[in-house]
Amino acid sequence: MDKDFSPITQQNRRAWNEIADVRAARWAEKLPTDELRTAENLPSEVRAALGDVSAKRVLHLQCATGEESIALAALGARVTAVDIADRQIELARQRAVDAGLDVAFVAADVYALPSHLQATNFDVVYTGGGVMTWLPDLVRWAKIVERALAPGGRFVLVDEHPVAQTLSVEDGRIVMSDDYFQCGRVVEGEPGWTHFNDRGQATEPKYEFVWGLGEVVTTIAATGLVIERLNEYPTSVEDQEWRYRGAVANAIGLPGMFLLVARK
Ligand SMILES: C[S@@+](CC[C@H](N)C(=O)[O-])C[C@H]1O[C@@H](n2cnc3c(N)ncnc32)[C@H](O)[C@@H]1O
Repeated sequence: MDKDFSPITQQNRRAWNEIADVRAARWAEKLPTDELRTAENLPSEVRAALGDVSAKRVLHLQCATGEESIALAALGARVTAVDIADRQIELARQRAVDAGLDVAFVAADVYALPSHLQATNFDVVYTGGGVMTWLPDLVRWAKIVERALAPGGRFVLVDEHPVAQTLSVEDGRIVMSDDYFQCGRVVEGEPGWTHFNDRGQATEPKYEFVWGLGEVVTTIAATGLVIERLNEYPTSVEDQEWRYRGAVANAIGLPGMFLLVARK
């Protein structure tokens, strides 16, 4: 019997709903609706990994306020995008209408996808940009991804490198503040966590999980998906600003992101 993580995911839903409007407003500032149609918010490495998505059935998991889902639609994909936070999904739907692009946004827990999504064979499952940390159970998640794919279908995962998650800044120096090898442990975020450095604080606590790269890759491989690539990238200047609050100039040499492509 699977452990019941729903109290944790429901709390995370409340936390993400609370900051949904702030997030959407921030993205609207950074990325005017017209620009979503250029899909440039999807980094070139990610676009290359996705391949030609034109007319392909794409499932985008943990889509938040939908900027990447809309970009995928702009590339011609038939996109279904899922997030647990229903307020984010409302905002995403409005953004897609404003952009004049069609995306089927669904408010759902990744662990409890509606049956019509579990039964569908997608050409691509895409997820990325701060997703693994919200998953309490890697094994169940990987099986859901595998089931959603059609034979030959592609899984693309791009996320923060777990090494970067163990680092923080003290007195202008990067320090290792977490144990990389305690994978799967829950990190309870106190009320007052901030989503964007310059915006208001949240009152709802959140729960995050730490998964090492080996754990992620091995769990995906165990589903039978064939791992085609795993790339690691250094921190970008923007990431460095956000993660280390600009305090450390040499963070550029540290791992910042990873990109995994697997095939069914
Ligand atoms: C950092 S955001 C990802 C944003 C994504 N990079 C994008 O822009 O398309 C993480 C998202 O995971 C969602 N989430 C967390 N737990 C989830 C779950 N169990 N099922 C579905 N979505 C979940 C949150 O609501 C949040 O929107």
